[in-house]
Amino acid sequence: MATPGSDAGALWGGRFEGGPADAVAALSRSIHFDWRLAKYDIAGTKAHISALQSAGYLNTVELQKLEKSLDELLKRIEQGSFVAKPTDEDVHSALERGLIEIAGTELGGKVRAGRSRNDQIATLIRTYLLDESKVIEANLVSYIAVLVERAEEHIAIVMPGRTHFQHAQPVLLSHHLLAHAWPIVRDLERLAQWRVRARFSPYGAGALAGNTLGLDPSLVAEKLGLSAPMPNSLDSTSSRDVVAEFGFICTMIGINLSRFAEEIIVWATAEFGYIKLDDAYSTGSSIMPQKKNPDVAELARGKAGRMIGDLAGLLATLKGLPLAYNRDLQEDKEPVFDMVDTLSLLLPAFSGMVQTMTFNLDRIESLASAGFSLATDVAEWLVKQHVPFRDAHEITGKLVTFCEQNKLELHEVSDSDLAKISKHLSPEVREVLSVAGSIKSRSGAGGTALPRVLEQITALKKITHN
Ligand code: ARG
Repeated sequence: MATPGSDAGALWGGRFEGGPADAVAALSRSIHFDWRLAKYDIAGTKAHISALQSAGYLNTVELQKLEKSLDELLKRIEQGSFVAKPTDEDVHSALERGLIEIAGTELGGKVRAGRSRNDQIATLIRTYLLDESKVIEANLVSYIAVLVERAEEHIAIVMPGRTHFQHAQPVLLSHHLLAHAWPIVRDLERLAQWRVRARFSPYGAGALAGNTLGLDPSLVAEKLGLSAPMPNSLDSTSSRDVVAEFGFICTMIGINLSRFAEEIIVWATAEFGYIKLDDAYSTGSSIMPQKKNPDVAELARGKAGRMIGDLAGLLATLKGLPLAYNRDLQEDKEPVFDMVDTLSLLLPAFSGMVQTMTFNLDRIESLASAGFSLATDVAEWLVKQHVPFRDAHEITGKLVTFCEQNKLELHEVSDSDLAKISKHLSPEVREVLSVAGSIKSRSGAGGTALPRVLEQITALKKITHN
């Protein structure tokens, strides 16, 4: 039988004859990961004591003394002179211990009135993630700026565009690079829209049913820079959809990066030979001296998988949880912290890799017309000559077969052979048999024609310069 352990660091001694068993204390403990919320907990406590004061539970002198003590506590944390102890169950109990050390038991002991760790933690996770969302946002904006810069540098370079990973139609390299910027723009929008939902304050909900002390939750919300208190105390203490949604956005960012990562890995192979990674953004092999590996891109791909795991774990924690607070909810933090940490490592490295990689322009351009990538242009040219598209598709298909059989590129077929394949294939078709012509003609909205790409650059610069 396990013996009851110590109750040092616990916030709930009175009803118990002893502290929890060591195994239980170890299971319960969250201080090793929630300590990162210390600064947010102190801000929450500061807001809470002003509500206590305005409801008459603290006089002005006590309020000032507590505010000073909290400032001192924060300073000690930042300097490293106040640290969490293994006996502290969580960030809340550690900080109460710290506050009492500075303000004394009597004054420090007044602070807990009218709040519970349940409304406290539900608030902190929001204020913490709101700050982190700004860090992620700044990293995303820099990444978009890098993509725009690389697109401008290679504004008119042509490359093979692919569907099913097969050559399809030529596109501009700039258009391709910017195609990786737009999903990130949507991630930025998602973060901004998420912030609107996240900026609500659970403080005042108490453990679950609301507080009896007449504390003003709007005052707390205002002090924390949040829009308003949440309307339902059961919901505010027990919901974590706001954490899950944030986790989804992080995961989506990871997935968006992983798609470019995969291309970069392929582009860096000898077979493709499209790009060369900068030495600072690639790694070698311990055994094969010739190797230069795209580890940053591989880690981006791998970390997207890791974040999917974090998100799936978080959602599974929430599934089927009855109202209101359950301790299961403590499991929301490690996955979302992991996602935050993962992105803060990944985004600068990924941006650096994209910023410094060099393109083998001759190679990329020489492949732009390979794989009969101008066949659609032939078919569409026929449509412009009033050939029904069904027939145009058929005629072009025959032309491609003829080229394959005779080992010719489309533009190498003679006028007489063109005429033999179809009477509609007059020599004028040659005007669309150039990559430049093909690209120029794709000038419809969102197309790869240069003016459309320049419009994208203007639009993206508005986002990165804001
Ligand atoms: N560490 C807890 C969590 O993250 C804080 C709330 C604890 N509440 C409680 N009733 N035990 O959810």
